[in-house]
Amino acid sequence: MAIKIIGWVLLLGTAGFFLGKFIKHKSLYPFLPFRHDFRKRRDSFRLVMALMDRIKARVIVETGTSREGLKGAKSNGAATIVFGTWAKANNAHVHSVDISPKSIANAEKEVIRQDLADYVSLHTSDSIAFLKTFNESVDLLYLDSYDYSDDPEVQLKSQEHHLGEFKAIEAKLHDNTLVLIDDCDLPNGGKGKLVIAYMKERGWKIIYEGYQVLLVRDSFSY
Ligand SMILES: C[S@@+](CC[C@H](N)C(=O)[O-])C[C@H]1O[C@@H](n2cnc3c(N)ncnc32)[C@H](O)[C@@H]1O
Repeated sequence: MAIKIIGWVLLLGTAGFFLGKFIKHKSLYPFLPFRHDFRKRRDSFRLVMALMDRIKARVIVETGTSREGLKGAKSNGAATIVFGTWAKANNAHVHSVDISPKSIANAEKEVIRQDLADYVSLHTSDSIAFLKTFNESVDLLYLDSYDYSDDPEVQLKSQEHHLGEFKAIEAKLHDNTLVLIDDCDLPNGGKGKLVIAYMKERGWKIIYEGYQVLLVRDSFSY
């Protein structure tokens, strides 16, 4: 009898464990295979892609590239591949910039694996330097470079860097540009703290606020 009870407890425990995992799993299926879990970014990725459909986005700029490829869907977001896949289906193009040759090399492998090389350009550079010379009009700006951490000094540097990125590309943003910022729901305001405050003073509004924050101009209609 005791063995039967232990058996049931183990079975229910295992079933509960897998059910919990299944409920938390947030895929972008059918856009990308179900097995990739985008977790805290899934809903904002979906929203931004729906809005890119509406504005017929052509030029996507990302700072901080997908250093772990699709394997990093849950941890880093894998946005280079998500937006690259969207770009392939919509005749658009992703420019992703990263200061680390290693991050670029890893992202490049995944871009090739996913057959996205015609739709994704990877640039090895400091993001602010790159954005200052970028001369196309930007439809989606995705800010996700300088890593945030628990160290208040690093937090401030990261926040200042993301503000610097926005200022560097500000002149290339049009009336319907979407700006998505990653790693915002973190202690002391995350990567977006300074840039969001700056944008709000200049006629931008938040339309999605979660782990990521999505902003558009006050005049944006959708
Ligand atoms: C969180 S990862 C980017 C994740 C990626 N956006 C994704 O969705 O998978 C941050 C990246 O920013 C890069 N980075 C850090 N400082 C940078 C800088 N000053 N300019 C450009 N990239 C930088 C790092 O090398 C790292 O690869």
